[in-house]
Amino acid sequence: MTSVDIAVVAEAGEAARLVGERLAEQARAGGSIVLTGGSTPRRAYEAAAELEPDWSRVELWWGDERCVPPDDERSNYAMAKAALLDRLETQPAAIHRIQGELGRDDGAAEYRYELADVGTFDLVVLGLGPDGHVASLFPKFPALDVTDRDAVGSEAGHEPFVDRITLTLPRLCATRELLFLVTGEDKADAVSRALAGEPSPKTPGSLARAAEGPTRAVLDRAAASKLS
Ligand code: 6PG
Repeated sequence: MTSVDIAVVAEAGEAARLVGERLAEQARAGGSIVLTGGSTPRRAYEAAAELEPDWSRVELWWGDERCVPPDDERSNYAMAKAALLDRLETQPAAIHRIQGELGRDDGAAEYRYELADVGTFDLVVLGLGPDGHVASLFPKFPALDVTDRDAVGSEAGHEPFVDRITLTLPRLCATRELLFLVTGEDKADAVSRALAGEPSPKTPGSLARAAEGPTRAVLDRAAASKLS
């Protein structure tokens, strides 16, 4: 398993800023960017929009979505829209939203269709759950074992307990860079297992590594507290 380049900063705001800078840099260069959901990246997306308001060279994707309407407060799209898209001067060339409202099977099928001829991503951003999940790939859930499709539906293994649509592990890793953003003490155990432990389906994050470039992680001190 490729090792992870880990950067530890004092607190969550600084970590968000670093990831915001990386997103802005990629937006300037152009290419395909895959966003993560959850609450941690919100400030990184806000910083990215502030640092680079022109995303016209970007194709935007999501690693996963909750099966709710796009204006639902649990929607990963809704979070990214408020924190990033609504703050841009120039929108991305393409916004490939996962249609969670279609339900897990139809929504996954629709996203597979959109991903059909798409090659290697340029930058995939991932969060990490306290149980070690990434995107909506939960420990020991069937979706984690899927290797013949780009996206699948899944039950939820973590709140919010609504059905999910997620990119599969091989699809998430088909990238030139994979970047984890993880903050908070509640993630410290999962961080040590995912970034410094043996690869295991008990910790999906330990299986997430870029296939065609570096895997990096930006952590605050609390999240890094169990790393030796
Ligand atoms: C989701 C995410 C998920 C997230 C982790 C961490 O849809 O929930 O994609 O994988 O990254 O659950 O979430 P927090 O940042 O909210 O802790």
